[in-house]
Amino acid sequence: MRLVLVGPPGAGKGTQAEFIAAHLVVPKISTGDIFRANVAQGTPLGIEAKRFMDAGQLVPDEVTINMVRERLAEPDAADGFLLDGFPRTTPQAVALDKLLADLGDGLDLVLELVVDDDEVIRRLSGRRTCHGCGKIWHVEFDPPLHDGVCDRCGGALFQRDDDKPETIAERLRVYARDTAPLVDYYGAQGKLVGIDATGPVEDVTVRAIDALRSYGG
Ligand code: AP5
Repeated sequence: MRLVLVGPPGAGKGTQAEFIAAHLVVPKISTGDIFRANVAQGTPLGIEAKRFMDAGQLVPDEVTINMVRERLAEPDAADGFLLDGFPRTTPQAVALDKLLADLGDGLDLVLELVVDDDEVIRRLSGRRTCHGCGKIWHVEFDPPLHDGVCDRCGGALFQRDDDKPETIAERLRVYARDTAPLVDYYGAQGKLVGIDATGPVEDVTVRAIDALRSYGG
C-alpha cells in the first residue's frame, strides 16, 4: 500500500506512523526525521534545512522533492510505503503524483489526522523524543517511567528545537497556508480519508487501521 499521512504539526503523524507502518509491513518515510538526521550529522543538506526548520518554515520544494525521489528509489519502498510529512505543498503533491505515475503506480490513500490548534500546542509543548531509537514520548500524555529516559532503549530524551511556542505558532500558520490545501487536492482525487485524531493514542490507531481496512489495507 502507498499511503500518505497528513495533518498539522503535533497531530500525531509520527506516533501513528510507527503503528500503521508495522500493520502494513511497509517502511515509514518521514521527511522531518530525514532532515533531523542530516542536521545531526552536519551534512550540507542538514545545514541548509536547519535554518528553515528552526524558523518553522518549510524546506524549499526542490530540495525536499529530490530527497524523497532518492528515498523512494530504495528497494524497501518498491512494494509500498508510508509517507509522514510529505507532501506538504501542492508542488510536492504534484511531483509525487508524477514520480509514481512514471513508475506505473499511484497513491492508494491519504489519511488525514484531524485535531484542533489548542490540542496541537499541548502536544508539542510536552513532546520528548529519544536520541537512541527515535521513540516519541509526552511528559503528560505518554510519559516514560523515569524522567528524561526512554523506556524502550534507555536513550536520553530531548526536546525538539522547533517545539518552542513562537516556532509552533509559525508552523501552524505555514500548515494552514501551504499544507491544508492538500485536503482538497486529494479529496478531488477521491483518495482522502479523515479521522478524529483526539483521545488516547491506541484509539486513534484503531480508527486509522479501521479506515485502512475499509480501503483494503
Ligand atoms: P516534521 O517532523 O514533519 O514535523 P511536523 O509535521 O510539524 O509534525 P511533528 O513531527 O511536529 O508532529 P507529529 O504530527 O508527527 O506528532 P507526534 O506524533 O510527534 O517536520 C519538521 C520540519 O521539517 C518542518 O517544520 C519543515 O521545516 C521540515 N520539513 C519536513 N517535511 C517537509 C516537507 N515535506 N517539505 C518541506 N519541509 C519539510 O506527536 C506530538 C506529541 O503528541 C508527542 O509528544 C506525542 O507523544 C503526543 N501525542 C501523539 N498522539 C497523541 C494522542 N492521541 N493523545 C495525546 N498525545 C498524543
